[in-house]
Amino acid sequence: MNALVTGVAGFIGSHLAEALIGDGHKVIGVDCFTDYYERSRKEANLSSLMGHSSFKFTEIDLMETDLATLVAGVTHVFHLAAQPGVRHSWKRGFRAYTARNLDATQGLLEACAEQPVERFIYASSSSVYGDHAALPMREDASPLPVSPYGVTKLAAELLCRLYHETSGVPVVVLRYFTVYGPRQRPDMAFHRFLLAAIRGKPIYVYGDGRQTRDFTFVSDTVTATVAAGTHGTVGRIYNVGGGSQVSVSDALEIVAACAGRPLDIQRKPCQRGDMRDTYADTSLAQRDLGFTPTISLTEGLRAEHEWLSQLSTVNP
Ligand SMILES: NC(=O)c1ccc[n+]([C@@H]2O[C@H](COP(=O)([O-])OP(=O)(O)OC[C@H]3O[C@@H](n4cnc5c(N)ncnc54)[C@H](O)[C@@H]3O)[C@@H](O)[C@H]2O)c1
Repeated sequence: MNALVTGVAGFIGSHLAEALIGDGHKVIGVDCFTDYYERSRKEANLSSLMGHSSFKFTEIDLMETDLATLVAGVTHVFHLAAQPGVRHSWKRGFRAYTARNLDATQGLLEACAEQPVERFIYASSSSVYGDHAALPMREDASPLPVSPYGVTKLAAELLCRLYHETSGVPVVVLRYFTVYGPRQRPDMAFHRFLLAAIRGKPIYVYGDGRQTRDFTFVSDTVTATVAAGTHGTVGRIYNVGGGSQVSVSDALEIVAACAGRPLDIQRKPCQRGDMRDTYADTSLAQRDLGFTPTISLTEGLRAEHEWLSQLSTVNP
């Protein structure tokens, strides 16, 4: 592959680029270091990629770039660049979501309609489902997002479908379910929980703790994403989940075991836009992408704990 990875300096994008290069592919990585979280973290995410002969990084904003030139010669587009997170997508924050999740995606799809690629993989989200889909969530459930972020991810999926049907862009949509592991974004729950546990600080938990998530370790997410480059049916949507439904309270027990100390848990009201439960039916991904998650929550949280412990030693 001559792959383009957008959002390459981010949590998942940086792991994906490493995996693609490890498999012998060439990667053009682009990122504009949005201020959603610190640039220094994103630069650190890129550290093992920089200088690699199969990796070329360009700092560009997809909104301000000649995308036709960017995709020229590219065989596979892995489009991960986005404004992530549910909580900041309300109020005026929404503008960044429409720009980065919709306008940028439409521009890239338009470029790929003119300069054919072999695959266009779009990183979507379990957030598109909302609270009405039956569990486990199947790709054919009616999506009804409960956050503005989810609305933009769903609208971008629809753009992918539109450009597939009208212009033949060979799109595969992946719905990621709560991804975690080393380099996880600092706004995400496990990052906050583990760091507070390491530092002996209070852990703020939104809601009653009985809400559930299908947590997916980042290497499993990446395996499914790489597989979608060569397997699966174009025009299809695939759930990518970790294979189990775990409550936040149960996950906190594993966090306590990782930290080796009791946690100081402080409850906060449930946040607008947070889904109650997520749980993926991954049978389609298993059948078409050969995807089976391999990392248990205990193993995965230990890996993230180790990464954060090392970061805390360097940067207490
Ligand atoms: N992390 C999860 O649990 C999760 C779950 C579901 C879906 N996703 C999706 O996966 C993708 C990656 O998420 P992540 O957690 O790695 O987020 P992240 O914020 O760590 O990475 C996204 C990267 O995209 C870059 N970016 C944003 N807009 C850009 C633009 N216009 N031009 C160039 N670069 C731009 C940002 O600077 C950032 O480095 C996103 O599309 C997100 O919606 C993530």
